[in-house]
Amino acid sequence: MLTVAVLISGTGSNLRALLEAASDPGFPARIVVVGADREAEGLAHAEDFGIPSFTVPWSAHESREAWGAELDAQLRVWRPDLIVLSGLMRLLPAAVVAAWAPRIINTHPAYLPEFPGAHGVRDALAAGAAQTGASVIVVDDGVDTGPILAQERVDVLADDTEHTLHERIKPVERRLLIDVVRAIATGELVLGSGARPSEPSA
Ligand code: GAR
Repeated sequence: MLTVAVLISGTGSNLRALLEAASDPGFPARIVVVGADREAEGLAHAEDFGIPSFTVPWSAHESREAWGAELDAQLRVWRPDLIVLSGLMRLLPAAVVAAWAPRIINTHPAYLPEFPGAHGVRDALAAGAAQTGASVIVVDDGVDTGPILAQERVDVLADDTEHTLHERIKPVERRLLIDVVRAIATGELVLGSGARPSEPSA
């Protein structure tokens, strides 16, 4: 059984979808802990499902490296097989990425490499894109530059706001994230191999 830590910053709606999927006894992964960089609203979902949680407040640390060191220490307590960044709005310091790579994945509300960064939905709208999307990637040292594990297009509608577009992207993200976690857990997808879940494993 693949053990998973999920890190969030916000409402955690994608976290909740993963918790729901993982509560099915047939799902091959289980969430062992949820962490956040602040008192995130989404931590309540962990409580609902009886999953332990921790907070490593960004504001209590003098540097990204100091914050990352405490985050790393918390993660080592749980020793997850996989770390899912599900709306964690902080870049992990290089030392944390190096310690866990390639076992950190991230969901992003755009069709990478288009519109990376903290405002993927807003940037797609500002660019006048007819389509954007959702992506699940492996985290590397860059900003949303790691290998793409799954992605799907979402149309931008003429009257979309950042909110309406993001709310249409999120269900796609959830489906991709659950599929990717399942594929990693079953061994269909081997992180670091460059294979996408839809491709036959070598
Ligand atoms: C998700 O759309 C996620 O992809 C995005 O934050 C949202 C979190 O929503 N992450 C990023 O933009 C990271 N660059 P949620 O808290 O409701 O799951």
